Amino acid sequence: MYEISTKDLFLWIRDIKTSNQEIDDLYLLLDLIGGISKTDLVLLKINSQEKVSLKLDFHSLKRKWVEHTQHSKPIEYICRSSYWRNCKLEISTDVLIPRVETEQIIEIAKDIISTEAKKIIFADLGTGSGAIAISLTDENKDWKCLATDIDKNTLNVAQKNHKKISSDSNIKFFCGNWWEPLKNYAGMIDLAISNPPYIPSNVYERLPSSVKDFEPKKALYGGEDGLFHIKQIISDAPKFLVKGGWIILENHFDQSQEIKHLMQAYGFNSLKTINDIFGIGRFTIGRYK
Ligand SMILES: C[S@@+](CC[C@H](N)C(=O)[O-])C[C@H]1O[C@@H](n2cnc3c(N)ncnc32)[C@H](O)[C@@H]1O
Repeated sequence: MYEISTKDLFLWIRDIKTSNQEIDDLYLLLDLIGGISKTDLVLLKINSQEKVSLKLDFHSLKRKWVEHTQHSKPIEYICRSSYWRNCKLEISTDVLIPRVETEQIIEIAKDIISTEAKKIIFADLGTGSGAIAISLTDENKDWKCLATDIDKNTLNVAQKNHKKISSDSNIKFFCGNWWEPLKNYAGMIDLAISNPPYIPSNVYERLPSSVKDFEPKKALYGGEDGLFHIKQIISDAPKFLVKGGWIILENHFDQSQEIKHLMQAYGFNSLKTINDIFGIGRFTIGRYK
């Protein structure tokens, strides 16, 4: 631990606030890598102490802040970690930073399944950091997850997160193209969840530098219309889902209608668009007849 003058710390925070830099990013940096949360800072102000202990020295913290502001590098990649629901996940540049809107997938899945069978097998297709697989199996110990990703390095990160956060929960990891590594589970999967790459090419080209220059293209880019991967996932789903099994997809704000048509064409009913916390039709669900 490193002792830092409380006064110097608050002066630094004040300077950043007054220079109109994104203060929440600084709080996130201090939390993820300095080990001091926003609440700790409020308490520190009340119980004024001369010194505060941080996990990193002041000079290194400032250097990391400059790395963020000069190059628009996301704080999560600088700190190699990210908060998602109640997990602190390890992150590398091979992995998408899990988004706050994706957290809702957990509630959608629990709503769909809660009234039905207790023991289920679900697939997390394109698991990334493992956020969805880990949260759902940690909260539902009878659920078994088959988590896939096309990228080995990404899967290594997900496996590390699984070991660190919830090693007793039931997740098997597979490397390969969407359903392809799950051949042994044909007709056995009760629920499939995916937040696939769905950004159309014209939107991808205009993404802010903090996203386009740092986050993996394979996690974001969904081809010309953004539906390249979604079409594969839906068309192969009937081979893998049980009758009455569900699919939950995250999608771009304008794709849900088209996705519902696709689902219908492949034998799904109970189709529904679900809005995210920002009021955007972010999720599409369907049930295989
Ligand atoms: C948008 S990210 C989602 C990551 C994580 N599920 C989340 O919600 O934060 C999409 C993930 O799909 C993976 N992916 C891309 N193409 C794939 C494919 N053909 N088969 C399996 N996974 C793929 C990427 O490597 C990436 O981890």
